[in-house]
Amino acid sequence: MKIAVIGGAGYIGSHVARELLDFGHEVFVYDNLSSGLRQNLFKEASFAHGDILDVQKLNDFFESVKPEGIVHLAALKAAGESMLEPEKYSVHNITGSLNILNAASKHGVKYIVFSSSAAVYGSPKYLPMDEKHPTEPENYYGYTKLAIEQYLQWYGKLKGIKYAALRYFNAAGYDVKGRISGLEQNPANLIPIVMEAAVGKRASVSVFGNDYETKDGTGVRDYIHVSDLARAHRMAFDKLQSSESFVVNLGVNSGNSVLEVIKATERISGKKVNYQVVGRRAGDPAVVLANPAFAKEFFGWQAECSDLDTLLETTWKAYLAN
Ligand code: WQD
Repeated sequence: MKIAVIGGAGYIGSHVARELLDFGHEVFVYDNLSSGLRQNLFKEASFAHGDILDVQKLNDFFESVKPEGIVHLAALKAAGESMLEPEKYSVHNITGSLNILNAASKHGVKYIVFSSSAAVYGSPKYLPMDEKHPTEPENYYGYTKLAIEQYLQWYGKLKGIKYAALRYFNAAGYDVKGRISGLEQNPANLIPIVMEAAVGKRASVSVFGNDYETKDGTGVRDYIHVSDLARAHRMAFDKLQSSESFVVNLGVNSGNSVLEVIKATERISGKKVNYQVVGRRAGDPAVVLANPAFAKEFFGWQAECSDLDTLLETTWKAYLAN
């Protein structure tokens, strides 16, 4: 299938592009390189440098490529920042997505796989969280993802575009075959921050609270390997050809604490990771876990390489490669 990967030079987008290429799809990356990297592009995929806010360029891209499917991963994703600068998130995430939807409907796109987030749920009301969990986002970033899911639903109804909204839990890791090593700049997530401490790029990690009701008092998250995520995008396209649109969790239902991540990184890297316990970060739940049963039942996806050691070993290799 001809697939446009919008945001395909980014951390998750590059893994998705690689997976689609590996399975014989024709891949066309569109990215403004604001956080994506040229290093993450593959010679087998064509690349257009453009912004989703540039309606003319976006439409020219759709006109020249005529994709049958698109993956939409172009977004800002720092939950904390979204609470301080919501306007930026409105423009990039919401307006940008509407531009994509309008271009897609104008140019006859049949399938959209959308990069959504567990942030649409807000604080867990029960664990593990399935897709029926109430959607009450607690940060503006999560709200933008939920709003886009709703636009997708409308465009599905009105324009006949089929979509899969993939609600990622905590994405981490690097390509298990080591083919991608573009590091995220100024990361805000735990695992890259711990890696930066291991390579000596930062002095220590701030652990946001050790008084939660968890195994060691630190926050527990459901880390999902980006290669597992990438495979789900490819499988979602296969499924959409014979199914209705769907919304699905991508996680593991197995949690790791902040201290477990730090200790395992020390073991795998052989480096000391200094940390200091600081106060809780506002809005952080103690535990977040996905119920991924629907993904397995509906389209046969389940995590295969999301154990903590594989997550950290692949990430460590990417850091060493830099
Ligand atoms: C993980 C754990 C922190 C940094 C975010 C988004 C969410 C989704 C995934 C995209 C928590 C602790 C972290 C640090 C720490 N993104 N931590 N020190 O908050 O679970 O989820 O990424 O869709 O929407 O909110 O991920 O990696 O920031 O935190 O102690 O310097 O690590 O408190 O327990 P989070 P995270």
